[in-house]
Amino acid sequence: MSPSSLLMFVQEMSRMLQGKPKEPEILARGSALLATLVANDNWLPEQFTRPHLQHYQQYLLYADPLDLFSIVSFVWGPGQKTPVHDHMTWGLIGMLRGKEVDTHYHKQANGSYLPGESVVLLPGQVGSVSPATHDVHEVANFYQDRTSISIHVYGGNIGRINRHVFDPATGTSKSFVSGYCNSVVPNLWK
Ligand code: FE2
Repeated sequence: MSPSSLLMFVQEMSRMLQGKPKEPEILARGSALLATLVANDNWLPEQFTRPHLQHYQQYLLYADPLDLFSIVSFVWGPGQKTPVHDHMTWGLIGMLRGKEVDTHYHKQANGSYLPGESVVLLPGQVGSVSPATHDVHEVANFYQDRTSISIHVYGGNIGRINRHVFDPATGTSKSFVSGYCNSVVPNLWK
């Protein structure tokens, strides 16, 4: 298992972001690059695919030294899901293995949030989030009996960004910083 596909993705994202494109271009070009990365499920080292019995895992795969972007392996155990949350930066979600359900939430005049349609992401497909248009969502493993894995890319160091979880019924928010569950990252250069 070689992470060379990941190194190529890092190189292409770095090249693109060095040109300081506007966000719609980042999302369009980044989606195409991420779709290429998740088209093959043969590059993610096994140690970044392991689920946890109680909660979903967020393994940092790469963080740009200037915080231009970060890449995370999200590993969903059976039936696991996130609370309703935001990101405070653009994000791309590329489905690598299994399926996940992505439900966007929309703020109402009284401050509460209502769910929109749920989209099931299949392997190879890419979704997005953005504070400019649709930053609040809930994500769940489609499966109750197996692991799913998606590769997320964000416009900052997502594990260090102060963001929010929401009680959709009231719109009440709570700050959180997600961090990462791993202490070592993949060696992209071996
Ligand atoms: Fe999210």
